[in-house]
Amino acid sequence: MKHKMKSLLIVIAMLASSHALAGNTTNTTIPEGMGVLPTEVPVPANNPMSAAKVELGKKLYFEPALSKSGQFSCNSCHNLGTWGVDNQKFSIGHQWQRGGRNAPTVLNAAFWSKQFWDGRAPLLEDQAKGPPLNPVEMAAGSEAMVVSRLKEAGYTPFFSAVFGEKNALSYNNMAMAIAAFERTLLTPNAAFDKFVRGEGDISAAAKRGMKKAADIGCTSCHAGPLFTNNQFANFAYGTDEGLKSVTKKDADDHVFRVQSWRNVAMTAPYFHDGSAATLADAVRSMARVQLDTTLSNADVSDIVAFLETLTGDAPQVSFPILPRPTGHALDWRD
Ligand code: HEC
Ligand code: HEC
Repeated sequence: MKHKMKSLLIVIAMLASSHALAGNTTNTTIPEGMGVLPTEVPVPANNPMSAAKVELGKKLYFEPALSKSGQFSCNSCHNLGTWGVDNQKFSIGHQWQRGGRNAPTVLNAAFWSKQFWDGRAPLLEDQAKGPPLNPVEMAAGSEAMVVSRLKEAGYTPFFSAVFGEKNALSYNNMAMAIAAFERTLLTPNAAFDKFVRGEGDISAAAKRGMKKAADIGCTSCHAGPLFTNNQFANFAYGTDEGLKSVTKKDADDHVFRVQSWRNVAMTAPYFHDGSAATLADAVRSMARVQLDTTLSNADVSDIVAFLETLTGDAPQVSFPILPRPTGHALDWRD
């Protein structure tokens, strides 16, 4: 991870587990670099975690007051009951509009070097400021509108308790709390992780798929315990300009962040444009476009079987009780 916050981050405890193996794994070599999902996420020094902040962030994550209609929350598109996605090609936002990119999962997003398919937000804090004002997502007119609605709903004491200072209820602090909550949305204990720890087995097909994916070079990009090198790569597919839409440089045309394989079996459809309806389609296209390789059906199904072992335990999130004024309606018409 090569970004500016590096010195401020808690170093990820990359568990050096891939080679010291026990139990069921004794007869199977785990390809270089693969390993257990890290247990620690990077935390920026200016936004330390606390239980109260995470709880406030959870309320805000489920808070429809962040949208103009009073109907959309982060959870509308990144549903925590369905692996942080909506399983649609393009999400439905304000007035039934659909955007131009597929909604990626928020699960494990705290690990990514940058946020969005094109990486335009360096941190979760930056990312969280986008959706409330995005006209096709939540479409709130301004930061001030969001803040005044949160005040009306009764958030002031919650922000003061977490951020201490006067005027703690700000758009910036909203984003800080949401980001803190997102840093708790990790998915440990995938079948693959248990296999690496010697606590369980994976199928013969999954083992073949694991080896195949490494042998043909998928893991040059989908590398390490996160199954992404957290870098950007050209993906000559579709019409979206990717990183070029941010940097305006021709060299960045069709460049996208390498997506993680963690929980990928649960987050269909695939690719930035949601154009691959099944995981098998996505695997076949990746092999063709990125590696100029045509996989046999047997290889595709083995790789899919391996990817299915990367589904972890989804975080158990109880639905929060949101602050609301007693005895009078909210006035959220515009
Ligand atoms: C209307 C649907 C919609 C809503 C509401 C929404 N998002 Fe998103 N989200 C998306 C889409 C689509 C993308 C991908 C956009 C892109 O990459 O250009 C995205 C991207 C993200 C990412 C980046 C993940 C990654 O892998 O790069 C995070 C994190 C995220 N959203 C969190 C949130 C939070 C927090 C909220 C609430 C403040 C929110 N989203 C509200 C649709 C939505
Ligand atoms: C050169 C780097 C590179 C190589 C090699 C590569 N990928 Fe990818 N992969 C990417 C990028 C970049 C994306 C994001 C694509 C996008 O923006 O739609 C991605 C996305 C994916 C996705 C979809 C993830 C999602 O959430 O939509 C799957 C599945 C996938 N790759 C599997 C594979 C497999 C299997 C192989 C080997 C056959 C492979 N990849 C080889 C870079 C690579």
